[in-house]
Amino acid sequence: MRDKIVAGNWKMNKDFKETEKMLAHLKSYSEPPDIKIMIAPSFTQLYQSVQSLKSTNISVVAQNIGIAQSGAYTGEVSPKMLQGIGVNTVIIGHSERRNIFQEDDAFLTKKIKIAIESNIRVIFCLGEKLEDRISNNHFEIVAEQLKRTLFNFSKESMKNIILAYEPIWAIGTGETATATQAQEMHFYIRNLISSRFNSKLANNVSILYGGSVKPNNAKEIFSESDVDGGLIGGASLNAEDFMKIANSF
Ligand code: PGA
Repeated sequence: MRDKIVAGNWKMNKDFKETEKMLAHLKSYSEPPDIKIMIAPSFTQLYQSVQSLKSTNISVVAQNIGIAQSGAYTGEVSPKMLQGIGVNTVIIGHSERRNIFQEDDAFLTKKIKIAIESNIRVIFCLGEKLEDRISNNHFEIVAEQLKRTLFNFSKESMKNIILAYEPIWAIGTGETATATQAQEMHFYIRNLISSRFNSKLANNVSILYGGSVKPNNAKEIFSESDVDGGLIGGASLNAEDFMKIANSF
């Protein structure tokens, strides 16, 4: 059975006080059984979140990771530092990192490598731009993203990988892929994984959908057989909306 996961990517939102409020709010909801809930606050709020959520099953995820364990990398945070405060999962390859901060597949591969070596679980994001979708190149683009990154690793490495298909045209735009569009891409990704590794592994990898998931559309998207949950941006900033989404399976 694949893990069902709902992960909230807070992006660059919520300072210390706002996080305190949000955590209290989150803890006031009962957690749906059998669903793994994760939140990804900013680096400065990770320790606070880990401490506060100790009494729950909600896990805390970093939004980024450095490419070495220590050294002259101004502004970066290493796997060891994250693990030292109880953070064992990281988002890599989010389209905002790719587009705003020019992180290309070669650089992302370095991040995946150090995360895997450090036994940190990775939520690896991929997805096409609007023009790729319009020109019907979306499958090819996603296949290329996988070939240039995750497919360079061994099958043993894949046990720590969660995928998130996030069509860029659906992120923060209010526009979502239809459930059918999400399903066909997730199915396609799973088949690629099966060809590169094997079918057992492909069947065990959780593939999340991300891009304007809201309480009113989560159920339909999550009902698709190859959609194992969601990576939620905007709607994860509101505890009620986020927990509604987590209850949408
Ligand atoms: P959104 O963001 O839900 O606000 O579209 C999703 C994401 O960026 O992971």
